[in-house]
Amino acid sequence: MNIIKMNNEDIIGQAAAVVFAAQVIKKPASVLGFATGSTPLLTYEAMVAMQDAGIVSFDEIITFNLDEYLGLNSEHPQSYYNFMQRNLFLPLGLQKENIHLPNGVNPDPIAECAHYDAEIQKAGGIDLQILGIGENGHIAFNEPADTFTQGTTVMTLTPSTISANRRFFDREDDVPRQALTMGIATIMAARQIVLIATGINKAQAVHDMIKGPISPKVPASILQMHPAITVFLDSAAASML
Ligand code: GLP
Repeated sequence: MNIIKMNNEDIIGQAAAVVFAAQVIKKPASVLGFATGSTPLLTYEAMVAMQDAGIVSFDEIITFNLDEYLGLNSEHPQSYYNFMQRNLFLPLGLQKENIHLPNGVNPDPIAECAHYDAEIQKAGGIDLQILGIGENGHIAFNEPADTFTQGTTVMTLTPSTISANRRFFDREDDVPRQALTMGIATIMAARQIVLIATGINKAQAVHDMIKGPISPKVPASILQMHPAITVFLDSAAASML
């Protein structure tokens, strides 16, 4: 793991955006894996600013998001599809056919998972994946469990994740209890990964991810085995290392 500590989350966002720009300069039609949550927002802002400034063009990228809530359609204000459209895809002017997220309203979620994995394979796998981390060490929506997940799967969210995501919904009861998520094996197959963690509420998870044993109880700990991962941390998130 390449661990980079920075004081300021704005600078982290810019540094992560530079990693994406470099990837796209090398390969314009890169397959990029995106994440939701508050953490990557500054990276997305910086990517849009770079494109607006004419430094790089993300026109040709093919995107795969980590996850989607089960039961929310793409129009729902809190669907991850909607989140990505607002914060990255529309500002970058991406074509709809190049954007992929699991379909949260497919009546056959198991078939949807298999279809999503097939689409990732068909695109040639993910070149660069951005990740955040949950307070309980989850990545994407892979919650602490007895075994690591493989491909895309239906996950029941833990009370910790439900309460962390409650801030996006009017009422706790509105937070979906299940999600479709890329599996750990799929994430590990990404050729390059950037993980960002900021804030004191991530300090324990960051400690366990980097210093703890590799265990499905802390899904992010598997990233110790990834050959090309950069972890950007602010001082609060790095405070227990
Ligand atoms: C959700 C997402 C994860 C994200 C996590 C942390 O669970 N599925 O991909 O990493 O939230 O979000 P935040 O960055 O808002 O702390």
